[in-house]
Amino acid sequence: MDFVKKLSEERNLSDCELKELIESSKYDEGLFAAADKKRREIYGDEVYIRGLIEFTNYCKNNCYYCGIRRDNKNAERYRLGEEDILACCEEGHRLGFRTFVLQGGEDPFYTDKMLCDIISEIRSRFEDCAITLSVGEKTKESYKAFFDAGANRYLLRHETASEAHYKKLHPDSMSLETRKKCLFDLKEIGFQVGSGFMVGSPYQTTENIIEDIRFLQKLQPDMIGIGPFISHEETPFSSFENGGMELTLRLISILRLIFPYALIPSTTALGTINPQGRELGLKAGANVVMPNLSPVNVRKLYTLYDNKICTGEEAAQCKGCLENRVKSAGYRIVTDIGNVKKEKEKICR
Ligand code: SAM
Ligand code: FES
Repeated sequence: MDFVKKLSEERNLSDCELKELIESSKYDEGLFAAADKKRREIYGDEVYIRGLIEFTNYCKNNCYYCGIRRDNKNAERYRLGEEDILACCEEGHRLGFRTFVLQGGEDPFYTDKMLCDIISEIRSRFEDCAITLSVGEKTKESYKAFFDAGANRYLLRHETASEAHYKKLHPDSMSLETRKKCLFDLKEIGFQVGSGFMVGSPYQTTENIIEDIRFLQKLQPDMIGIGPFISHEETPFSSFENGGMELTLRLISILRLIFPYALIPSTTALGTINPQGRELGLKAGANVVMPNLSPVNVRKLYTLYDNKICTGEEAAQCKGCLENRVKSAGYRIVTDIGNVKKEKEKICR
């Protein structure tokens, strides 16, 4: 049975077939080629860029894997004010970014009102840009307020769709049910929604990954972010092995074939575990990169995992470096808002 052909044509496989594809390297060459063909049919050679602004590393949560978790007392904490954030957007816009991603830990210092003020100021200054938020779990009312203030996309990885696995990665104060509810709330409000998971997180099994894929099929997100788990020395998971590059690439390809229209980033984490990781991610079917627009003096402090790359360069350098990398992989960065392309509805007679 040609699983890759079946996946390309039917956009789905049985659990058994997926398991075989996920666990074996023998399909990789055909899989990567099929995923690249699919992305080129829909997105050509275009790669969208998102300017990432990591505006706070304070967090009230205590995820076991995350370097900026509350109990990491050795993390030096910082917050950016509205003017700092706007300056990042200003610089980003000048460099050709048309999407800004405001990401941070779950930091109650920023009230809904403060976030809404920041969002509406960005919206009024940069009409031609998308505003993406990635600030964790909030109430539906808060999400609606952000949307009404002008935000249009939201990134919230579900992290793992298995109840039992979720409990191994998070303290009891957090729940998978809440996380999933947030994602459906965001969709209902009208956000373009991104979800995803870490590859090779502690205790993850192939069955968990298949559950992740099944959850994504239910959610039908516009964006899917996956990257390897990388350990951080000041977390309870400091001694766990990092996720692997091959499995991450294989999963990018599988996701591209199941969700041909999705926006899939080639992540910084992938570039951290291998110097060619992001280029290979693009060749495996990814179509987005997210250079850092945060001020250089705080970059090293947003340390989710050890040895994170791109913490020393200015925004322009970072973009230039990625432009070359993308080109060397056979694609090109475009100055575009980079909305998800939607499948044309089938005409029924
Ligand atoms: N607080 C927001 C949230 O929870 O969605 C956004 C920030 S959070 C740090 C962004 C993502 O970083 C998480 O969804 C998680 O998948 C990823 N992450 C955290 N620790 C990581 C690690 N050790 N290795 C790889 N990715 C990690
Ligand atoms: Fe909150 Fe990681 S524990 S962002």
